[in-house]
Amino acid sequence: MSTNKFETNAIRTQLKRSENLEHSVPMYVTSSFVFEDAEDMRASFAEEKERNIYSRYSNPNSSEFIEKVCQMEGAEDGFAFASGMAAVFSTLAALLDSGDHVISSRSIFGSTHSLFNNFFPKWNISHSYFKCDEVEKIESLITPKTKILYAETPTNPGVDVLDLEYLGAIAKKHELILVIDNCFASPYLQQPIKFGADLVIHSGTKLMDGQGRVLAGITVGKRELVDKVYRFSRITGPALSPFNAWVLSKSLETLAVRVDRHCDNALKLAEFLEGHEKVNWVRYPFLKSHPKYEVAKKQMKAGGCVVAFEVKGGLEAGQKFFNSIKLLSLSANLGDSRSIVTHPASTTHSKLSVEERAETGITDGTVRVSVGLEHVDDIIADIKQALEA
Ligand SMILES: Cc1ncc(COP(=O)(O)O)c(C=O)c1O
Repeated sequence: MSTNKFETNAIRTQLKRSENLEHSVPMYVTSSFVFEDAEDMRASFAEEKERNIYSRYSNPNSSEFIEKVCQMEGAEDGFAFASGMAAVFSTLAALLDSGDHVISSRSIFGSTHSLFNNFFPKWNISHSYFKCDEVEKIESLITPKTKILYAETPTNPGVDVLDLEYLGAIAKKHELILVIDNCFASPYLQQPIKFGADLVIHSGTKLMDGQGRVLAGITVGKRELVDKVYRFSRITGPALSPFNAWVLSKSLETLAVRVDRHCDNALKLAEFLEGHEKVNWVRYPFLKSHPKYEVAKKQMKAGGCVVAFEVKGGLEAGQKFFNSIKLLSLSANLGDSRSIVTHPASTTHSKLSVEERAETGITDGTVRVSVGLEHVDDIIADIKQALEA
């Protein structure tokens, strides 16, 4: 049974009740499935019946995870991957042919950037980037070979916001496939399909799992496009493991309450940082000073878990800040119950040149905080003492 309430569906969407009526779907830790007879086997391989054959193609735990995310995002179908990057790569590789062209926001996750810059050119797939504050230039970048319009919002790590309605309208007008990496928002805060996205990608490693336990990715959206992604992926083998899928289905049950608290804590930290004398600038979508505050309010329920800011004094001051952190973790993940501080210039975006980093808004002093679920007073106190160190 499904309702129109996100929280209820996140908990009650279940693939099927097992024969023994377990309250949770059991783990199907199996590589393959058996057939009743030769005809069952033939018909299954001929895709005349919907049936689990081999866990590289499908598995009940992955199917449950996919079903939940489809419901959350308002999507027709999906495929679950072993990591967010497996989802990004497989989705793009399944849809693009040699000679095709992609238009992407310049502000994207470092590994996605590397994919466009270093790997897709090997297969004669080209790209053009647009800056987040120059979306009006997107149409001038379109060529007869442009197939995909790609973006993240909010962006990693600069926390820029792109107007999904605007991107949706451009994609529709020019018949481009709009692919949105929605991992910074999670399906609880933002559903890009409502605004015209054809496919939505997540790194399940982030807010979906929310406790830093598993790597995962998922792509959901229009059935005909997901089918292409599925056909590519069942051959190339980036499928999510049943165990990780089971963990994620359980994690999604608490997504709404976790993300609400992440957002409350993040907004309080952003407000604190905004008034601090050692901070040059702060970016958080639900701060009134964010250049796209109105757009964020239009398309997001709250601002997300990531706050970006710049410590005054450049690299040296930045390093001192990181070395003075006591409670928070120095790590590269985000969306975890534990607050994490990251230095994008030397970690997640270190493969970009200084110029490329500057174009995505990353300076040597940029700090990314993934605000966790500890008491907000302790999060702020740790950052405050590190700034003052
Ligand atoms: C926006 C975004 N997309 C994709 C990924 C890749 O996800 P994964 O690390 O699960 O491969 C990340 C990872 O940080 C990310 O931040």
